[in-house]
Amino acid sequence: MAPEKQMTTATAPGKIILVGEHAVVYGRPAIAAPVWQCVATAAIAPAPPASGVTISAVDIDRRFALAEAGDDEPLAVVARLAMKHLGVQNLPDLHIELHSDIPIAGGLGSGAALSTALVRALFAHFGQVVEPEVVSAIVYESERFYHGAPSGIDNTVVAFGQPIWFIKGKAAEPFWPAAPLTLVIADSGVPSPTKETVGAVRRLWERETARCEAIFDEIAGLAQRARLAIEQGDQRTLGQLFDANQALLEALTVSSETLERLIDAARRAGALGAKLSGGGRGGNIIALVEPARIDAVSAALRTSGARRVIVTRIEPRSFGAHSHRPATRGSG
Ligand code: PMV
Repeated sequence: MAPEKQMTTATAPGKIILVGEHAVVYGRPAIAAPVWQCVATAAIAPAPPASGVTISAVDIDRRFALAEAGDDEPLAVVARLAMKHLGVQNLPDLHIELHSDIPIAGGLGSGAALSTALVRALFAHFGQVVEPEVVSAIVYESERFYHGAPSGIDNTVVAFGQPIWFIKGKAAEPFWPAAPLTLVIADSGVPSPTKETVGAVRRLWERETARCEAIFDEIAGLAQRARLAIEQGDQRTLGQLFDANQALLEALTVSSETLERLIDAARRAGALGAKLSGGGRGGNIIALVEPARIDAVSAALRTSGARRVIVTRIEPRSFGAHSHRPATRGSG
């Protein structure tokens, strides 16, 4: 279908891992949820004849012509794969602008969100509906660039836009909490590439396989109980499971003094539980809070050095207005 003279936009959320990071790389289950308070957006506009496809990702300072970009440019890889799925043979003349307010290298899935917004905007531009599984599979290819051999949890939760139960290599199970979950997310301001922490756990596993496998099994047990607690609206238990997961992440050496200072501050200010989220050694922590404690916990986190604090709510199904948020087309 020929592109019309319209602007197409699509958004994709950030994400947090509630339980199970790192163990998920070794086949254990994990739970992740979208964070719609920070998003990536892709806007596609027709470009002058013969200009081809140009992509500019303002926040990460990248601008390139798709025809000239190599396979070391993850956004180009994603755009080409999407166009292949769409059956687009000849590159049209388009300008694609990407924006994101998701902190980079902070474990909030900024790379996956940019790629997801790009893929969804391309499908919308060419008038095709796309299933989250297809978006996720395409975005996985760019995640490989950022992370090496990722479990696939980031691209999956961002593509689904709702909480998921995830086991590597299996179909994700989207699910809903029985009651809203309020989480305070605090950025340590310490960038920590996931590739490095995943590599550190790999080296530990090579040295101490039996101990690491036992930790992964314990984390798997926490994930099972956390899903039940979320589906039953049992926040107190979920908070305790966050704390238990944090202790096991410390044993895997992916925590840090800075993260633990924030976690401790959140707990002292009344959080039900707190843990690092994502690769660790930097990036973000999450604290489960009752709504009445949002301000106290946020203030304590800022005082303890958090660079940015985001409050998010994971809503039950009846409120789940955000999942599969449609792309929009309109005159631009
Ligand atoms: O992208 P991050 O930092 O949220 O980490 C993803 C979670 C890990 O389990 C650490 C890695 C993976 O591939 O699942």
